[in-house]
Amino acid sequence: MGLPFVTQAQITEVAMGKVKVQVNLNGQGQLFYSMLFGGKPVIKQSLLGLKVKGNDTLFNKLFEIIGTDVTETDTTWKPVWGEVSTIRDHHKQLTLRLRQKDAGRHLLNITFRVFNDGVGFRYEIPQQPNIDYFIVEKELTEFSMTGNHQTFWIPGDYDSNEYSYTRSAISKIDNKPVVETTGGLVVQTVEDRYSVQTPLMMKSADGLYINIHEAALVNYPAMQLHVNTRNLVFSAALVPDAVGNMAYLQAPFKTPWRTLIVSDHAEDILSSKLILNLNEPSKPNDVTWIKPMKFIGIWWEMQIKKSTWSFANSAREKNVDGNLVASGKHGANTANAKHYIDFAAKHHIEGLLIEGWNTGWEDWFGNWKENVFDFVTPYPDFDIKAVTSYAASKGVKLIMHNETSGSATNYERKLDTAFKFMNKMGYGAIKTGYVGRIIPRGEHHDGQWMINHYQRVTDKAMEKHVALDVHEMVRPTGLHRTYPNLMASEAGRGTESNAFSNGNSPDHETILPFTRLIGGPMDYTPGIFKLNNLGSDSSKRVRTTLCKQLALYVTMYSPLQMVADLPENYKKYPDAFQFIKDVPVDWDDTKVLEAEPGEYVSIVRNEKGSSDWYLGAITNEKPRTLNIPLSFLKKGRKYQVTIFADASNAHYLSNPELYTISNRMLGSNQKLVIKLAPGGGCAVKFKLLPL
Ligand code: NOJ
Ligand code: CA
Repeated sequence: MGLPFVTQAQITEVAMGKVKVQVNLNGQGQLFYSMLFGGKPVIKQSLLGLKVKGNDTLFNKLFEIIGTDVTETDTTWKPVWGEVSTIRDHHKQLTLRLRQKDAGRHLLNITFRVFNDGVGFRYEIPQQPNIDYFIVEKELTEFSMTGNHQTFWIPGDYDSNEYSYTRSAISKIDNKPVVETTGGLVVQTVEDRYSVQTPLMMKSADGLYINIHEAALVNYPAMQLHVNTRNLVFSAALVPDAVGNMAYLQAPFKTPWRTLIVSDHAEDILSSKLILNLNEPSKPNDVTWIKPMKFIGIWWEMQIKKSTWSFANSAREKNVDGNLVASGKHGANTANAKHYIDFAAKHHIEGLLIEGWNTGWEDWFGNWKENVFDFVTPYPDFDIKAVTSYAASKGVKLIMHNETSGSATNYERKLDTAFKFMNKMGYGAIKTGYVGRIIPRGEHHDGQWMINHYQRVTDKAMEKHVALDVHEMVRPTGLHRTYPNLMASEAGRGTESNAFSNGNSPDHETILPFTRLIGGPMDYTPGIFKLNNLGSDSSKRVRTTLCKQLALYVTMYSPLQMVADLPENYKKYPDAFQFIKDVPVDWDDTKVLEAEPGEYVSIVRNEKGSSDWYLGAITNEKPRTLNIPLSFLKKGRKYQVTIFADASNAHYLSNPELYTISNRMLGSNQKLVIKLAPGGGCAVKFKLLPL
């Protein structure tokens, strides 16, 4: 897009702190915005607008500004659960009211909200006489970058986000058109060689950190980004539906917010509350029933092929390459469930996830069949009443599993029955999943239809008081503010990849907080203690040390946090397991001590309603020394500090399981120096001592 001629009078701007947004029209009445941080351009003049099917000008040119409204808001609010107990929302809002000089005199508003750490903007189509229903063919939003920044990206894909990140200059983004099958669980295809997914993290040569994503994705497709590798312009690439349309809308309508988070400190990107602030407050529901928790699961044993999801025919649990995804005996049997319940009760882990409890798994994978699961019929070796009452008697909450195998329509038809069953059995949480193609129409996981599907399930779960952990979902956009029962999702490449693919590299967990977690908590499933020879397959390993697995409970925030390994592996390391038992899942305060995408992340968090703090620090494949002042602790008080550190000869490839545990008494005027092994990490508990 060439630079339009602009006169000063046409420029409208709004600023907050170092962040400034300027908006202007060119001679054809097209609308552009630019963004500055501390006086330096971050986004050069970039086009705004929508393209509506069957009309070349509607909502994209011939605009005149008929009004501007500027307001300032400074409020605080309290999330139901979260990384901090109070969130400040301080922003200036500029709404541009536009009218088109076309026959229909069409109206469009664009609202910008400018915060200290970035900006969000969205399109609003007001109710008006000359348009009602319409189809979006393309969103024209652009992000014109000022330099060839270093970028952490995963390829554009309408159906999966379970990729490893590539670190490259913008000009080098090129997703070779490959088809990747991670263990066959998800069929991944790259749709556009030059497209990437958001949250997209960038760093400029002069040390500016820039993150592009979206907030409040409701009734609209997810936004991916197409990159022009020559002029460094990203443009919105909406995920289409089965017939190539992007969104079916009716006025009045508000699109999701397009977000830019900016800082010259990487830590600020991780502390930003911009996306949550752009989401609506939680609906006036009773939300007191929603409780964060840790949970173990009849799960990893299937991932490492020690047991199966299916009861009758494990040989058919194959992936699209014909390789087995599971083998052994049926995992979700009554005796095994009781064994896990005993373990959870003994170690005060609140929840137990049970996968493979219900019929359908003989036929679930890659068959593109509609009615595989009914979500209510247990396998004959799983005495659901006995297991449920045993769990209740031991105070363990069951998290039941609804895999849909991509048949979202089947799930919708049975949703009422499935949730009535949840209520009848007293289950307060459910893990759902969407492995495979979305059938029958071939909608995409990240398209408008599926966005509405996730919403319907979330609404139903809210009505029935059920918390959700959704796998194979679109990546989050802060909707958990509005729907706090949407507690976690996978929506990224989790620990499970280590069990069935080449696995995750040691920098993966240092990138995820800057990308996947920007929109919301991730069910990453940390806590693996047996790190190599997974399921006796010597090619499969987790590329971290054991201490890094502990640190992930702090660095990878989630209110539903899995204790993912097998009980027998925890029994071998009871002293290290103590950290997992102690670490909370809900916090009053969080401080990102130091962070650099792809390199390291160190975070301390203050347990909700307590004076105790927990620290997690992780590194990539490079060894590092953590050296931090303890100024976050209460002045003049002493803490008992328990340090879980990599042993001096620990390494993620050799000796990943070696660690040391030491105790010290420290105060806020002291420092903590801890060595992290290659691929390592450390976890620290600070317990306030009585006066
Ligand atoms: C993929 C999910 O990510 C995993 O957690 C689950 O166990 C399998 N699908 C089976 O539903
Ligand atoms: Ca998955």
